[in-house]
Amino acid sequence: PPTPPAPPARHGVLSAGRAAIAARHLRTDRWWLQPLLTALGLSAFVVYSTWRAFANAYYYAEPYVSPFYSPCLGSNCVDMPLGARWPLFGEWWGLSPALLVLIFPLGFRLTCYYYRKAYYRGFWASPPACAVAEPHEKYTGETRFPLILQNIHRYFFYFAIPVALILTYDVVLAFRDEQGAWGHMGLGTLVLLVNIALIWAYTASCHSCRHIVGGRLRHFSKHPVRYRMWTWVGKLNSRHMLLAWLSLVSVALADLYVYLVASGAFDDPRFF
Ligand code: FES
Repeated sequence: PPTPPAPPARHGVLSAGRAAIAARHLRTDRWWLQPLLTALGLSAFVVYSTWRAFANAYYYAEPYVSPFYSPCLGSNCVDMPLGARWPLFGEWWGLSPALLVLIFPLGFRLTCYYYRKAYYRGFWASPPACAVAEPHEKYTGETRFPLILQNIHRYFFYFAIPVALILTYDVVLAFRDEQGAWGHMGLGTLVLLVNIALIWAYTASCHSCRHIVGGRLRHFSKHPVRYRMWTWVGKLNSRHMLLAWLSLVSVALADLYVYLVASGAFDDPRFF
């Protein structure tokens, strides 16, 4: 008699040895809402930032520089007399200078522990939510190429520090007026100030930062300074998701503000 076909292989939550529950999950709440909102929020940022990164226009409204274009590393940057222009790349670079610098904050966020969770759930449904089985048959985690590259997050953290320092420098320059005199303050100064505060808070709350500051110590009592710093970073770290979103929104709003002022759509209100 012909051999009957082999039963289909069972993987993941259906594999042998797991509880034989037919339902894909037993959750009755709206577990899909968070990954859906996450996917929508991240998609909105990707669309906006892609448009702005390639726009190559309206990123400087004296004395404000858009954080998407700072530091401006191309030799094709608009004239920015206040020192935000660092033309390290020669004449051969003809594309938008934002593309030269955005690699670093983008890589930092793309490999961030929180964003990984967010986009694995929001876009790959891997898994869609806690206690909801993922649709994929195999799971190799981050043990293979390309996801093993997520391990370079610590190095992106090192790059994030100089970028944040340069954005801080831009905020200091936003306290000067067009003639270079100190004491200027406009709504744009405040927008950039809030943005850099959130960027620093997000950067300092990084899991790699927490490990660098207080990890691999046998005795906290022998390292009181590192211990103290570790507790501060730990407090920020517990708000890492919140800071990730706030700083993402603030950096887009800061860029939008500079765009509106530079394009003439909006007049920067001045307080001093
Ligand atoms: Fe999120 Fe490092 S873990 S920035």
